[in-house]
Amino acid sequence: MEEIVALCKRRGFIYPSSDIYGGITGFWDYGPMGVELKNNIKREWWKKMVYQREDVVGLDAAIVMNPVVWEKSGHVEGFTDPLIECKLCHERIRLDKKEEIEKHSSSPHLINNEKKSAEWVKENIQWTEPKKFNLLTEVFLGATEPKQKAYLRGEITQGVFVNFKNVIDSTRIKIPFGIAQIGKAFRNEVTPGNFTFRSREFEQMELEFFIKPNEAEGDKWFQYWKEERMKWYLSLGIQEKNLRFRDHRQDERAHYAKFATDIEYKAPFGSPRDEASWSEFEGIHHRGDWDLGKHGLQYLNPLSGESFTPWVLETSGGVDRATLFFLVDAYCKEEKRIILKLNPKIAPIKAAVFPLVSNKEEIVGSAREVFLKLKNVFNVAWDDRGNIGKRYLSQDEIGTPFCVTIDYQTLEDKTVTVRDRDTTKQERLPIDKLILFIKEKLSI
Ligand code: GAP
Repeated sequence: MEEIVALCKRRGFIYPSSDIYGGITGFWDYGPMGVELKNNIKREWWKKMVYQREDVVGLDAAIVMNPVVWEKSGHVEGFTDPLIECKLCHERIRLDKKEEIEKHSSSPHLINNEKKSAEWVKENIQWTEPKKFNLLTEVFLGATEPKQKAYLRGEITQGVFVNFKNVIDSTRIKIPFGIAQIGKAFRNEVTPGNFTFRSREFEQMELEFFIKPNEAEGDKWFQYWKEERMKWYLSLGIQEKNLRFRDHRQDERAHYAKFATDIEYKAPFGSPRDEASWSEFEGIHHRGDWDLGKHGLQYLNPLSGESFTPWVLETSGGVDRATLFFLVDAYCKEEKRIILKLNPKIAPIKAAVFPLVSNKEEIVGSAREVFLKLKNVFNVAWDDRGNIGKRYLSQDEIGTPFCVTIDYQTLEDKTVTVRDRDTTKQERLPIDKLILFIKEKLSI
């Protein structure tokens, strides 16, 4: 994990927010490579969940809503994390981490500045009763006192529910149908950490899918969306051995969930004695009629005239967690190079263009032509520094799938070499076949 965090900073994927002032806990900035990776992930999600379907439309709701939304939705009362405090060292942890910490005694347990042994901790550990902390982030609006209290949205979801009627009235969509959204959410996490995994500002990509209330239909769609979401991660190259489903126990379900399953990733940040811990990537939730019921919203069947409160199946993924786990999963070390084996569809840069030498005018001129031609279609990079070997290594580290080199032969027959990131094999291609070649590899 340390190596990935270092690579993220060194190569412009992720930086601590307000880095020059020492950062701020739970906030992160995405650099030139990070923003591309993140945008590509969001674009692939939108393509799959909206463009390739007839039963889903998109939405982009405001981050700040009327605070009544959060009262009705149950978040003001129930959007809490139970915390416990170690009576010895006063460290606070989330209740769901208690078992892990007790098993491994991974809490620092500095008593009077002295680090106690795991055995000592095991014998003496004592916790306070759980205390609940609300996760909603308050904001105060208006320039004059008294300011109006509102909340930064704790989940992007409520924006969909409060627009349920607007969407139906302004489109011809009929149940079963979904509303998809991508956007920022904010949570006053008490224990942010594990790099971007638990942040206070993060992005979600969610689908709320509305169906007729019916147990069999609910089960069918819940199963369907679980499988669809798992297939999506696999299709973009996450290794199957690193993914699993985990059903929520009743006592860990969010206040709105009838039942819930997480897609988990085997993340490289376990407790000190584990190499990895299974960590939530995306939640698939059966929200029943909780939200529409609380907001008093109904669906009117235009054909039968019947009214009912639809049930909602939700898929809720974290864009930042997806970005992190795509990076982790793609990170690969060989004897002489570090490679990000990202699926070309989400790689920040699709191809890098190199003149073999930088002091030969015809070669540089021809390389510039190829570069500008590709740049019209893809995000491509130009590099004429150092030797070709170093340029390859530099592109491997940020996951660029193809490196195109313009050499002396190019001047004679208008062909270039294309080097594949994963195999390092090179092939010669005519310049006018390059765009098609890359498009085929990206399946677009
Ligand atoms: N609308 C349902 C909902 O928000 P959730 O399980 O609380 O459900 C969904 O969150 C996803 O959002 C998580 O699976 C995770 O990927 C992401 N997420 C939640 N809290 C996060 C945090 N503090 N930092 C980064 N991502 C987070």
